[in-house]
Amino acid sequence: MAKYNRIKGTQDILPQESYSWQYIENTIKECMLSFNYKEIRTPVLEKTELFARSIGQETDIVSKEMYTFLDRGKKSITLKPEMTAPVIRAYLENNLGSQSPLNKLYYISSLFRQENPQAGRLRQFNQFGAEAIGSNSPDLDLEVILLALEVYNKLGIRGLNLRINSVGDFTCREPYKKQLKSYLKPIISEYCNDCQQRFNTNIMRVLDCKKNHCRELNNKAPKLIDNLCEDCQTSFDYVKQSLADFEIKYSINPYLVRGLDYYTKTVFEITSDDLGAQDAICGGGRYDLLCEELGGPPTPAVGFASGIERLMMVMDAQDLLKNEFLPLQIYIATLGSDASRESQKWLFYLRKKGFSADKDFLSRSLKAQMRDANRQKAQIVLMLGENEINSHEFSVKEMESGNQSNIKFENIIKYLSNYFNSDPK
Ligand code: HAM
Repeated sequence: MAKYNRIKGTQDILPQESYSWQYIENTIKECMLSFNYKEIRTPVLEKTELFARSIGQETDIVSKEMYTFLDRGKKSITLKPEMTAPVIRAYLENNLGSQSPLNKLYYISSLFRQENPQAGRLRQFNQFGAEAIGSNSPDLDLEVILLALEVYNKLGIRGLNLRINSVGDFTCREPYKKQLKSYLKPIISEYCNDCQQRFNTNIMRVLDCKKNHCRELNNKAPKLIDNLCEDCQTSFDYVKQSLADFEIKYSINPYLVRGLDYYTKTVFEITSDDLGAQDAICGGGRYDLLCEELGGPPTPAVGFASGIERLMMVMDAQDLLKNEFLPLQIYIATLGSDASRESQKWLFYLRKKGFSADKDFLSRSLKAQMRDANRQKAQIVLMLGENEINSHEFSVKEMESGNQSNIKFENIIKYLSNYFNSDPK
């Protein structure tokens, strides 16, 4: 029994799982490259105020879930719970807008939220996401949705649902909030306690309560998409038409408001039926006012983020994950101390030539070395003993076919390059 255990809601990613992570991360990077999004990395720590200001003081994330502490200088610091605010902070601080009017950025990052852990809900989790900063074109709303879908498609994921909505902008949202307040006021006591609190602090969030009773009451509430201003309506119509042009199935969920306050106009979520209660693998939308909110010039932007652990749960349910080691190309098995010393030189030489190669470091018997080679999924075993050293040749075993032959030292690179179909370095 280990003396120390990992912290609740965190995970170790073990070597056999790393292969799947690398595969997913490589696929994400390929897609980002093809859509011309450039990688950005930001610090794990940010000033707490950044998140309070951007995500919203009354949101669950800021009010209940952040890992916040005072550093030794008594400054309030927070482990980042999401990436949009840090990306915009970095965009403004590094003047990226003056270098290029449109910045298309992507990230793969660990994030921290002190939620109640359950399937698909962790305290340290990973997201990949993209942010297109500098244009109000709804073509970019479409592009970020297409980009998320492209990643899922490349990974072979099926059966996803896209839900969209518009949360309007300042012009239409403020009068709508008043309308909603008048509607809710006489019946708010029938709602759950959380909703009663949201009524006072963040009224729009009453709309996306997951409790059935509240949902039923919400059915008759006025909808923001019936009250959009002209600009928001035009933009929403454009996004819907573009999705239809691309034959992308979607549904409109007028109660989708998302758990972060910075959104304007288009918001969307992608869910999977293969997940339980936490069924969202992706969330995003436009946030045209955030740059200004953080002290920058007016800069419209749109983006999304997708939970990698949830995506892996869907892949697992759809049998798309390969939890295995990448095969080792060459294993050198040795007999005797001279051969062991000789093998060390060969190992470095083979690696320099671009092969993956390993040997035994535990003075195991030849039989145990062959077992180890099998376990490592070695494709070729080069056997080296006193006889081989004297005759300047390896005894070679091709593990898949079991074929054995002797190959002269001077011909070994040619043989291996042929076998692995690679050019020697
Ligand atoms: P979010 O909806 O808070 O949005 O998170 C996006 C995704 O991250 C979720 O759909 C889910 O897949 C994953 N996720 C969130 N919390 C957890 C958790 N505790 N455990 C596991 N996975 C989780 C944002 O973070 C926005 N910054 C998205 C965005 C980018 N909007 C515009 N640009």
